[in-house]
Amino acid sequence: METRLLHTPEGVKDIYGADYERKLRLQLEFLQILRNYGYREIDTPSFEYFDVYSGEVGTTPSGELYKFFDKDNNTLVLRPDFTPGVARAAAKYFLEDNVHVKLSYSGNVFSNARSLSGKLKENTELGAEYMGDGSVEADGEMIAMAVELLKSSGLKDFQICIGNAGYFKGLCEEAEITGELEMNLRDEIGNKNRYAAANLMKDIEMLESQSDKLLRCVELFGDVSILDKALTGISNERSKAAIDRLHAVYSQAESRGIQNYITFDLSMLSKYNYYTGIIFRAYTSSLGDAILKGGRYDNLLSKFGHDAPALGFTLSLDDLVVALSNEESGRQKDDGYLTFALTKGRLADKTIELLERTGICLTEMEDKDTRKLIFTDEINKVKVFLAKGPDVPTYVELGAADIGVVGEDTILEEGRKIFEVLDLGIGKCRMCIAGFEDAGELLKHHEMIRVATKYPNITRDYFQNVKHQTVDIIKLNGSIELAPIVGLSDVICDIVETGSTLKENGLVVLEEVVPISARVVVNTVSMRIHAYRINKLIKDLSEAILDSSH
Ligand code: PRP
Repeated sequence: METRLLHTPEGVKDIYGADYERKLRLQLEFLQILRNYGYREIDTPSFEYFDVYSGEVGTTPSGELYKFFDKDNNTLVLRPDFTPGVARAAAKYFLEDNVHVKLSYSGNVFSNARSLSGKLKENTELGAEYMGDGSVEADGEMIAMAVELLKSSGLKDFQICIGNAGYFKGLCEEAEITGELEMNLRDEIGNKNRYAAANLMKDIEMLESQSDKLLRCVELFGDVSILDKALTGISNERSKAAIDRLHAVYSQAESRGIQNYITFDLSMLSKYNYYTGIIFRAYTSSLGDAILKGGRYDNLLSKFGHDAPALGFTLSLDDLVVALSNEESGRQKDDGYLTFALTKGRLADKTIELLERTGICLTEMEDKDTRKLIFTDEINKVKVFLAKGPDVPTYVELGAADIGVVGEDTILEEGRKIFEVLDLGIGKCRMCIAGFEDAGELLKHHEMIRVATKYPNITRDYFQNVKHQTVDIIKLNGSIELAPIVGLSDVICDIVETGSTLKENGLVVLEEVVPISARVVVNTVSMRIHAYRINKLIKDLSEAILDSSH
């Protein structure tokens, strides 16, 4: 017998026994709770025409969709989420008279995500969509249902974080930022990457006060008091209305007695221009990503021929089962410690020095012969471990570490979903295209050339999106400078620090791709759950950097 017959493909799994029973039970109980709120179940097809989920409508990048053709050559996709399919069905069957439509669903969704990333490619989701009602009461009901589902499951430790896409949009309008710049800015502010966001705006003619207001979004998270802070200096009506709406949503939560579950985050933005009003996510400390995601998307139904407001949420049942068993077994990540993953090698010593300046005590790490893997500062409740650079974003994204310190090169190459919150200004170098001097000509004429690199994603992005040149990328694991010398490639894409490796081998920098330095990255859930501690740490580290530069 072929052993392969016994295996499932990477990213999918069999679910059986107690876990499966629990998942089925939760599914039935949740649908009943939603029914009590007036939501009727709908089942839409597992696959649809590509257009239903294409960039214009959906929130999943085309590359992460499972696509295939039918015999009539139509391009079909396995649904990556339910919302566009449910919106399509609602537009077709229910929205004739502009009535309010409440629909619930549960079923499997599929993501053709990167392999070996620690994420499932098939998940069971359950959710609700409320169409035709743009009121704040509808927002309040949606959040109340989310809280009720999570509470009824027995989950104890969770919070719902709410933002409003209108706040950022209003600031962009005020600063006359549109199109690609707005999209990139939304991306960076959504990642809490203040430095990249500032960089995007540095060449744009705009008042400093306007760019400051946009950058301030990354700090506007926490309890309801941040809403008043967010109004300081704001004159545009759209941002003001967004804050008023959040106050009204909070009042809704208070009247339902669920305000203790609520926090706010004004940099909570979707990568896509999809959400038009409130955006909310539920976090629990034992999972590295949101367990429930939702918001208002008043433009979606117009794509299907009906101009009506809509909002909804979706909850991952598989993640909820994991979170519940983590809570029951006491395997909660929230043990009171903040866990740091630091990059081994050149960066480690400088990073430890900076952390010690903030008062964290890491003397145990000074013993170079120790085989210990985790070092603890019991007073500050901090745990630290060292990892290979490319593994740091992985530990942080999946929540095994709350905070990481890693080079920008690795962050760009790994493409993980993490917040990039601080530039430590150490480990400075440049990502460059280098080679023999005469190879410069090959870069000018869009020639098909061979590029050797340890960073295939950065290289592909640079040649495709910046230079618009098709190249043949060869992945190597080190000593990249050898490649052009021995004739393996025309040029290399690699890090240049002092430039001595290039010089000693007769090579030169031909183009600069991006400046690099060490960054502090934070898990998206930890940032919200440990907001106070992490913000303080960022502040202390910023001061330590300033001190050391004087
Ligand atoms: C890095 C980089 C270059 C070199 C640049 O390699 O890949 O080879 O440093 O430094 P310089 O400009 O100061 O000469 P690293 O030493 O990390 O090892 P690797 O070659 O195995 O990647």
